[in-house]
Amino acid sequence: MLELSDIEAWRSFASEQRSKGRRVGLVPTMGALHEGHVSLFRAARETSDVVLATIFVNPRQFQDSSDLDSYPRTPDRDRELALACGVDCLISPTLEAMWPDFPAPTPTTVTLGQLGEVFEGAGRPGHFDGVASVVAKLFVITGACRAYFGEKDFQQLTVIRRLVRDLGFDVEVVAQPIVRDDDGLALSSRNVLLSPDGHRQALGFSRALRRVAKEPRSADAQRETLRGVLEGAGVEVAYAEVVDPLTLVPSRDGEAGERRALVAGFVEGVRLLDNGPVQLVGR
Ligand code: PAF
Repeated sequence: MLELSDIEAWRSFASEQRSKGRRVGLVPTMGALHEGHVSLFRAARETSDVVLATIFVNPRQFQDSSDLDSYPRTPDRDRELALACGVDCLISPTLEAMWPDFPAPTPTTVTLGQLGEVFEGAGRPGHFDGVASVVAKLFVITGACRAYFGEKDFQQLTVIRRLVRDLGFDVEVVAQPIVRDDDGLALSSRNVLLSPDGHRQALGFSRALRRVAKEPRSADAQRETLRGVLEGAGVEVAYAEVVDPLTLVPSRDGEAGERRALVAGFVEGVRLLDNGPVQLVGR
């Protein structure tokens, strides 16, 4: 496995691969790699010819410097895991290379407006602008590629799809399904903070999503079911919505078709989120 930190070496590596007719697969990460990343590496291995993974803890997507400082950093383990998953090139760019002006603001960035201000963005002003800005830079340096992201962070996936569409990147975004425990709980690094009782309560998320996926109903009925199952499980609900997957605009009652259910809430003070497909029928 080749390891790079220099932006120009990374750019040339990707371009050399393309010149040899190889499809480049890119897996952007912030390190602290886990099973969710493993599924992205596997997908990239299977559907691209050469796999590049980036590790960069992007300060522009953190609002709070203590959050940034306490973000887990496990470089040795990450290297081992990337190697075991068949990553061909592991790129860890420096802060100076990615954001030369930091901590001063960078004048040229991506702004999303409403799409970044709802749901997970509501309490984290600027978070999704920071994600979109760094991902745009990763795309510019890598060039034409397939880029792999998990459906677990559905809002992030939507933001990145819009970024590609609106700014015309030569990137095919590949979404990977949520990785779940055998009992249905979506994998998250926060799950370890739950007691066995909390874990049982948290199963309310996947139960609610399974319930609405089973039967097409109106948007209001699906919302009610989501909230009812979550509250019944003892989850303190942050939101339980049915949205258009491309715009994240909440569905109106009477709309029909495939939409996305987004749920988030607290169990034992731990914030968890999940999502899944949902069918709506008009009345
Ligand atoms: O999901 C993540 O790990 C990050 O938000 C990403 C996409 C690598 C951008 O920093």
